Amino acid sequence: MLRIAIAAIALTTFFSASAMAAGDPEAGQSKASVCAACHGMDGNSQVAQWPKIAGQHEGYLARQTRMVRDQQRDVPQMYPIVMNLSDQDIADISAWYASQTVKPGVADEALVEQGRALYHGGNPESGVPSCMSCHGPTGSGIPGAGYPMLHGQHATYTADRLRRYRDGQTNGDDDPNSKVMVGVAENLIDAEIEAVASYIEGLHRAED
Ligand code: HEC
Ligand code: HEC
Repeated sequence: MLRIAIAAIALTTFFSASAMAAGDPEAGQSKASVCAACHGMDGNSQVAQWPKIAGQHEGYLARQTRMVRDQQRDVPQMYPIVMNLSDQDIADISAWYASQTVKPGVADEALVEQGRALYHGGNPESGVPSCMSCHGPTGSGIPGAGYPMLHGQHATYTADRLRRYRDGQTNGDDDPNSKVMVGVAENLIDAEIEAVASYIEGLHRAED
């Protein structure tokens, strides 16, 4: 009797784990070869318009990739690559890229102080909240809350994304996180976007 009970518990645990479609980074490595042309095999893209995805949280990567596949996030260059991927393929590829390490860039000396001040303190006069309050002091984000890692990202991509949020562009899913940045970015001015994007590119964790 005891054995059966234990086996039943083990089986339940197994099924609930697989229901979450946890990715297998080893399987993901070979599946990621179709992404490498743009994002790099280790997720450190070399082109400033193509985001680095190395070290990004697995859950965030999987959700964004599923949204692109389902045409809820507008990345036409990626459509032919992702249209036939299953949720499991996406989970595996996301686990692979999440296991890689982002290579930080360098912030522009002329912008870094303004960028640092905005990142840590926001702009109380215009009502921009501090970025740190959600993305953390080193830009590592909070995986459980769906707040992505930012540090090391190409400034060109970050600035583009912030301008699009400011224009009101959201992703098309129902997740409340898709709307958060529109409110954050609404009062940012161009100079602040350039400065904070540059600061983020040079930001890294103490241990990197
Ligand atoms: C032809 C180039 C290209 C290929 C190939 C490509 N991507 Fe992308 N990807 C992009 C571009 C460009 C963006 C940024 C879109 C934007 O500015 O919003 C992007 C964005 C992303 C994002 C969102 C990143 C973020 O920080 O929000 C993820 C995740 C992603 N790609 C995953 C993948 C995966 C997984 C593959 C392979 C299955 C792949 N991409 C293949 C060009 C590409
Ligand atoms: C209330 C929490 C919150 C605050 C404050 C906040 N963010 Fe975000 N940010 C988010 C969430 C949630 C997302 C993910 C949106 C999604 O899931 O599509 C995000 C996404 C982003 C992205 C896109 C990342 C990527 O890889 O594409 C950038 C860039 C960004 N935030 C920059 C900032 C900056 C700069 C500030 C400060 C001016 C800031 N955020 C303040 C919650 C926040």
